[in-house]
Amino acid sequence: MEMKEEIYLDNAATSWPKPECVYQAVDTFNRKIGASPGRGSHSRTITAGQVLLDARESLAQFFNIKDSSRVIFTANVTAAINIALKGLLEPGDHVVISSMEHNAVARPLHSLKEKGVELTVVQCAPDGSLDPLLVEQAITGRTRLVCLLHASNLTGTIMPIVEVGRIAHRKGALFMVDAAQTAGVLPVDVEEHKIDILAFTGHKGLLGPQGTGGLYIRPSLEIQTFIEGGTGSLSEQVYQPDFMPDKFESGTPNTPGIAGLGAGVKFIQETGIETIRRHEQALTDLLIRGLKEIPGVILYGPGDSERQVAVVSFNIEGRDCGEVSFLLDQRHGIQCRSGLHCAPLAHQTLGTVKSGACRISPGFFNTADDINKAIRAVCEIAKSGLGL
Ligand code: ALA
Repeated sequence: MEMKEEIYLDNAATSWPKPECVYQAVDTFNRKIGASPGRGSHSRTITAGQVLLDARESLAQFFNIKDSSRVIFTANVTAAINIALKGLLEPGDHVVISSMEHNAVARPLHSLKEKGVELTVVQCAPDGSLDPLLVEQAITGRTRLVCLLHASNLTGTIMPIVEVGRIAHRKGALFMVDAAQTAGVLPVDVEEHKIDILAFTGHKGLLGPQGTGGLYIRPSLEIQTFIEGGTGSLSEQVYQPDFMPDKFESGTPNTPGIAGLGAGVKFIQETGIETIRRHEQALTDLLIRGLKEIPGVILYGPGDSERQVAVVSFNIEGRDCGEVSFLLDQRHGIQCRSGLHCAPLAHQTLGTVKSGACRISPGFFNTADDINKAIRAVCEIAKSGLGL
């Protein structure tokens, strides 16, 4: 039987494939270590604890975090964002976000709004870009937090985190960054970028498995925890430890996944983040140029690989994005995401909330040949009539 070639171009959702060392780290943990970290004193639990510590320290080094205990592991970036927003904000606090935020930020904040947190959504331009001056104008005396995604999962637009971080601090607000689409691809330095709270996921640019992510909380910033339980520490007490990272890490963690995440970070450090960015940028350039030439294709976002990560969204005039994505996969083996990408605010900004969009997101393991095939496939679908 002839196997259809498949080209995975949905790395903005989850990067795939992973570097070989990531598969090996997960497998080695599962086969050879297996135990719960920090529970008791036998050698396997100690080795498992060491795996967690190694990954925590790699991440701290990667983001220029001086004290690795300020990095906590979570199941994904959504969990990290919820922990930060719900543990920090109180009724009467004001928060500023952009109109490109993912639902991981928008939903917890809209539910906090019901409890008395005030929310301002700063309008971005239709290509997803944000004018930092509008953030400055939105900050009031009650603004506790400015929360901004580093790059959009819909258009790839890179946000001005350096300028916004400076503005937030000058105005006395905390600065939180959602690095879901950039960690592992663009440099994130919590000191240089003045980040008080950083939420990241393991399964995208950091090349780790699904079910991994984390949160950095800068020293001396107090955040309440709403999950309490066993930590393997101070077990004689019925109250949650208040030291890091145990305060936020109750229950047995996803140690196999975190072992893989640590391996992903080491792979990026060895490969060089600039090499990864350069490769993804070249693929993004090729994709943008190719899609622009297809009659009937409407491209969203900056249309400039300098100003975006490897995420390119488009529609074909008069065609349903779900149908286009389905045909790309069924007829051409091109796998990409369609719909609203859990980002209705961003779609409102683009004016695509009714139509949704198709999104092609190359990763480090894609080639120019993959992109050329995707462009040819979009071209054929654009030329062909409706129907399956
Ligand atoms: N947030 C992920 C995406 O953009 C899942 O597809």
